[in-house]
Amino acid sequence: MRPSPAPSAIFDMRLARSAPDLWPMLQRLYGERADYAEFCAQLEQTLRASWKARPADLKRLDLARDLEPDWFQRAGMVGYVFYIDRFAGDLPGVHERLDYLTDLGVSYVHLMPCLMPRPGDSDGGYSVMDYRRINPEYGSMADLTRLAGNLRARGMSLCVDLVLNHTAREHDWARRAAAGEAEFQDMYLMFDDETRPRAYGQTLVDIFPDTAPGSFTHYPEFGKWVWTTFNEHQWDLNWSNPRVFLEIVRIMLNLANKGVDVLRLDAVAFMWKRIGTTCQGQPEVHVLLRALRACTRIAASAVIHLEEAIVGPAEMLTYFGRGEHDGREGNLAYHNSLMVQYWGALATRDTRLMTHVLRTHFPPALTNATYATYIRCHDDIGWAVTDEDARDLGFSGRAHRAFLSDFYDGSYPTSFARGALLQFNPETGDKRISGSFASLAGLEAGLQSGDPQAAGLAIDRILMGHALIASFGGIPLIYMGDEIGLLNDDSYLDDPHHAADSRWIHRPAMDWDRAARAGADPTTPEGRILAGTRAILHRRRAVDRLHGGHPTEILDSGNAAIFACARRAPSGSILCLFNFTESWQQISGSWLRYHGLTEMRDLLSDMMVALHDDMLLLPPYGRVWMS
Ligand code: GLC
Repeated sequence: MRPSPAPSAIFDMRLARSAPDLWPMLQRLYGERADYAEFCAQLEQTLRASWKARPADLKRLDLARDLEPDWFQRAGMVGYVFYIDRFAGDLPGVHERLDYLTDLGVSYVHLMPCLMPRPGDSDGGYSVMDYRRINPEYGSMADLTRLAGNLRARGMSLCVDLVLNHTAREHDWARRAAAGEAEFQDMYLMFDDETRPRAYGQTLVDIFPDTAPGSFTHYPEFGKWVWTTFNEHQWDLNWSNPRVFLEIVRIMLNLANKGVDVLRLDAVAFMWKRIGTTCQGQPEVHVLLRALRACTRIAASAVIHLEEAIVGPAEMLTYFGRGEHDGREGNLAYHNSLMVQYWGALATRDTRLMTHVLRTHFPPALTNATYATYIRCHDDIGWAVTDEDARDLGFSGRAHRAFLSDFYDGSYPTSFARGALLQFNPETGDKRISGSFASLAGLEAGLQSGDPQAAGLAIDRILMGHALIASFGGIPLIYMGDEIGLLNDDSYLDDPHHAADSRWIHRPAMDWDRAARAGADPTTPEGRILAGTRAILHRRRAVDRLHGGHPTEILDSGNAAIFACARRAPSGSILCLFNFTESWQQISGSWLRYHGLTEMRDLLSDMMVALHDDMLLLPPYGRVWMS
């Protein structure tokens, strides 16, 4: 019998496996520099040391996931996203809520930013001053490690945020840069005068035009202009400096070795700047992200990357790697278009644009990757519908986007939605929308007017949305409180750090009394949403054919009210149908048979469905997964 390979030989094999994704990328980014060879040596040393320090149980997990590389695409994956303080007080408090999550069907938890933020306004924790410490209000790194272990023991995965584009201006690197240390100034994008900021500024798009206009901040105290894409306190990192790459890899692998399964890489589109462009999604961003993924694959292969790029349909796919990077970049990325189209079709009662966009821009299957599907998250909704796509359907993109903003801020006369505007960009006319799922879907208005029928329709809109993200392909992410229909919360207006940012309207504290009531009484609105969501998630987990790797084919239902897609598994297809209107709709039996149905079983309700005069009837906001 041959002895098993020495541990270092396993590392060498991992390094060799991912070498084509690493060194050629770094060569492109940094190869011209005099210190390039030294940087490569340091990086290899970092990877080796991290792997060596990786706890034995995580190394086992690496092996297990090498053997099951589709682990994150399986139907059993269901995500839940929350702010630690708002959901459970602190990290130890999260342990007490795990049974609730398990009961809901959740197998993946995304903790919103938990690393040490700057004091005061920290953009919800996205302004990080220390990547090696946990926000002391939430607990310690030991608490995070414990939670990760506990989740692992329950077969659940842990996702945490990692902000790559910027640090807080209170970060040690930033402080030293402000104090004049050239080495640290080179980790950020700093300019001695306004010439270059002005030149770049010509083509940049403001992210927060109302509250943080412009992308540069002048600091007279140390005489520099600093690149600050988001807020003044968030200083963009200089990724053309390999030192930044090295330091971030160290931070990533440190978190990986604490037991984190998924790193949510925040605002990745902005990582590389090029004059004359919007400085978003530059080709180098993809080279960087591929190299970063190679690093985790080498030193912590159980860990995957969720890339956050909330962009239009054409750019979104690049975060999974296109062309030469295909299948080698993000394992997960948010399906922003699915989310936008859900809201668009709900307002117009017309799914044609949704069908067109999802069919034209997205391939049926992805390589080594899957979507994060969602309806609401902690951020606002931007109407990422292009003029071209709108024109294809015969209407104006600008008018459609304006209609959606009016509909969802509630000002459109027949709107069921209650939302808030976030940032108005007079140049483009764009107005983004904040609001909780339930309030945007009509529950707030329905309850306020005491109209049970309106409230009932809102509940069905919510359940239809959850059934859509649970079956479309990808990991469905339930945003905290959406399973019990939490409404908008205006109390953010009383907090001076939050008042100017309407996104806080949909970041309330979890209402555990409401959750208890919902659990106890499935006839109340919150009880119906909870029972319905739970049923959807449990059915998803039971239906292997919803595996994210199986193609999603967008179909033309022939009825603008109904969105249709087929999940094509080798063991058979599932036709998923969603009625986006408040009236009954029909679809013919011959259409269903033509698209491959042999049996009329709805896998969502797990019941046989009877056709009437060879017609399948879908009630208002009805949803079925026909097999
Ligand atoms: C991401 C976050 C958002 C934050 C921004 C800047 O888009 O989701 O909440 O404001 O990055 O860090």
